[in-house]
Amino acid sequence: MARIIEPTKEGIEEAVRILDSGGLVAFPTETVYGLGADAFNPAAVMKVYEVKKRPRTSALILHISGLDMFEGCVRDPPEEAYLLIKWFWPGPLTLVLRKDERVPGAVSAGKDTVGIRWPAHPVAEAIIAGLGRPVVAPSANRSGRPSPTTAKHVVDDLGDLIDAVVDGGETPYGIESTVLDLTTDPPRILRPGAIPREKIEEVLGKEVLDAYVTKPGGVARYRIRKKLVMVDACGAPEHELPEKVMESVNLLDAKSPILLVSDETATAYSFSGAKVLVIGSRRNPLDVAKKLFKVLRVAEVLPGDVIIVEPLPSEGGLWAAINHRIREASSKVVRVC
Ligand code: TXA
Ligand code: MG
Repeated sequence: MARIIEPTKEGIEEAVRILDSGGLVAFPTETVYGLGADAFNPAAVMKVYEVKKRPRTSALILHISGLDMFEGCVRDPPEEAYLLIKWFWPGPLTLVLRKDERVPGAVSAGKDTVGIRWPAHPVAEAIIAGLGRPVVAPSANRSGRPSPTTAKHVVDDLGDLIDAVVDGGETPYGIESTVLDLTTDPPRILRPGAIPREKIEEVLGKEVLDAYVTKPGGVARYRIRKKLVMVDACGAPEHELPEKVMESVNLLDAKSPILLVSDETATAYSFSGAKVLVIGSRRNPLDVAKKLFKVLRVAEVLPGDVIIVEPLPSEGGLWAAINHRIREASSKVVRVC
């Protein structure tokens, strides 16, 4: 069973020792918990793929803690990379750039590019700086499961398979970094995340493309232990949402639905007889991002036949990433227009 390590000076030293000898240590970042391995130890990197059951074709993100480390990993980064780094690092923006040949091929699944970021979390930074080398850190879940935002989530998914988890409490953002491909012009967002596209466009002074594929309907990419259904209410105003959600319960003929709803509408469901979980405020996407994965992990083990998610605001900003993650977990959309 994975050792739980406190984020003290001694704890960090212990985590660094494990990584240095080729072990796997999960640790908190500002987004979600990452499963760390020494990026320059190909055997350790391959173990990451194994324990996560991650497809070998899916590249890992290099986590660094300084610009000298950055420069040792990439080849000819464009000026735009430095502009974004100045604004957003340390922070939840992953840049995809040409890879330096010194970075082992195992890190980037054989691609000639590498995803790289400098996390803004004192525990992550101390571990990377302590090791003195970049650390690969995919989200510390089994492939396809929601990303972990607490040490307990990590233990639930991978406890038997990894050496240790540094318990730094809940992660502040709760949603993964934005992955931005800077090897094309215009740059392309490969995964929407904690830094919204609009902010990147503002800094670069130009358009950035959304290049993530929306999964085909009916195929859930996240493996939640229950069926998850989204409701399309065609932009109905907030006060009509409870009625629309209850209409979808009827259409689905759901006997014991679990409803994920917002702070603002929660009381309107109190007479519905359904199990209701609140995922945060419609006025505060940061709040929803922080709670989303945690609430999904609560909902999937409650008694009930289906999880139904109230429509959230569809405007840009962080809602793009939140709605993307919900879509990835869903296997059906019910239209109640
Ligand atoms: O917030 C985060 O990014 C978290 C924390 C732990 O840092 N990490 C994370 O890693 O979410 P992971 O492996 O679960 O997701 C990384 C994503 C994948 O979708 C992968 O395909 C993409 O980044 N990616 C990584 N390197 C890439 C590359 N060279 N080219 C294209 N996509 C890349
Ligand atoms: Mg992941």
